[in-house]
Amino acid sequence: MERPTAPVPPPGCPAHHTGGRVPLYGPEFAADPQAYYSYLRHYGPTAPVELSPGVEATLVTDYATALQLLQDSVSFRKDARRWRDFNEGRVPADSPIGPVLAYRPNCMFSDGAEHLRLRQAVTDSMARVDSRKLSQSTEQVSDYLIAQFGARGSADLLGDYAKQLPLFVFNELFGCPADIGDRVVYGITGMFDGVNAERAVEVLFGAVGELVALKRAKPGDDVTSWLMQHQAALTDEEMVHQLALLLVAGNEPLRNLIGNTLHRLLTHDAYANQGGLIDEAIDDTLWENPPMQNLAPHYPASDMDFAGQKLQAGDLVLVSFAAANTGPALTAARKAGSNRAHLAWSAGPHACPSKDPARQITVTAIENLLNKLPDVELAVPEDSLTWRPGPFNRGLVALPARFTPVQTVRRPAAPAPAETAARSENAQQAGRKPERGMWSQFLNWLTR
Ligand code: HEM
Repeated sequence: MERPTAPVPPPGCPAHHTGGRVPLYGPEFAADPQAYYSYLRHYGPTAPVELSPGVEATLVTDYATALQLLQDSVSFRKDARRWRDFNEGRVPADSPIGPVLAYRPNCMFSDGAEHLRLRQAVTDSMARVDSRKLSQSTEQVSDYLIAQFGARGSADLLGDYAKQLPLFVFNELFGCPADIGDRVVYGITGMFDGVNAERAVEVLFGAVGELVALKRAKPGDDVTSWLMQHQAALTDEEMVHQLALLLVAGNEPLRNLIGNTLHRLLTHDAYANQGGLIDEAIDDTLWENPPMQNLAPHYPASDMDFAGQKLQAGDLVLVSFAAANTGPALTAARKAGSNRAHLAWSAGPHACPSKDPARQITVTAIENLLNKLPDVELAVPEDSLTWRPGPFNRGLVALPARFTPVQTVRRPAAPAPAETAARSENAQQAGRKPERGMWSQFLNWLTR
């Protein structure tokens, strides 16, 4: 890869670096990624970055160039088995980046006809989700979580709410019984919190494998069953990988979309007097603080010139959705009314297939919280909030808030769906070990 001469960082810019590559990790990057993106724009539409120590990539920071890459699936491929640095042993074995970018047989890492087949199964199955039921189950989960902290008058809206809500909604969507759902929650939480991540991945894949076996034997009215009934005729192994992808690709950005939007609502007075408050805050978050700030790994199929750069086949190229969305050239177009033209969901054949349900869950989660806790406000100075490190996701460590204590959120907003109740009872009748997992506790609350 041909490297441009590094521009000189402006005085005071946090993007000081050595070796000609700008590090997209560490506390300075987490504290102010936009300062880094401003600096990276000095290189032109693409810039040389380091994703973790020793892991090099080219980052596209310009909106039009990003679209060009995302829509050109002939020149740029997704199959990570093409990643030259990885194949040639230049990615350190203990790099936190390896597991995120390494190939797995799912739609995110496939190209051409195989991608179409796997993706169609995902989009068709997600399209069967009933939006009324989705809102209802999101509201139930929201009520449950608020009931856990409402009487305290204070909560960490990230750890107590935004982080947990998607996990529970997903367990419901995918038809997880109590014991499997507990392990899914444990696995996903462990993966993202980085505590014993290897064990967490093992637990997640074990639980998803059991879920597949269970639904083969006894299909239900859920995404797992729809996925396996799809004409793509997924094998058990393919089922496990698509489900794990949906759970992993869904939970973390959803948590951060809820968290980043709540952060915005609590720190910008401008929303207080607007009717369309939540929708507007979500759109502004997707533009300016998107949950996935840099991703869309692609690999040139052959050596090529791209946006003034020479790329070699198998070079790792990523898109900065956050930088592309905030490029100075875009502001005018945005003001002209193209309010959802941001790249927060990516674009092209690999764009997020679940943006509608993800948005709906986010709206319901925030709406219900603001309805139940109308005077909720930030409990700490805004500048004391910290963001999790890492190049891909953008999310807070915690969002401490206070509000007038509420005692009212005790019962589900609507009766528990019959299937949910059955799942809780089945587990109890089967004499399984005492149910202490978070998902079991929610199921018990719903059905008591
Ligand atoms: C219901 C929740 C969600 C599910 C199930 C989900 C699922 C997925 C899947 C399966 C893909 C891969 C598609 C492919 O390669 O063809 C994907 C891609 C993507 N999703 Fe989502 N997603 C969810 C929520 C979100 C949220 C909240 C965001 C952020 C706003 C987001 C942003 C993206 C982006 C940027 C990509 C492209 C990533 C890449 O190309 O590397 N997703 N999503």
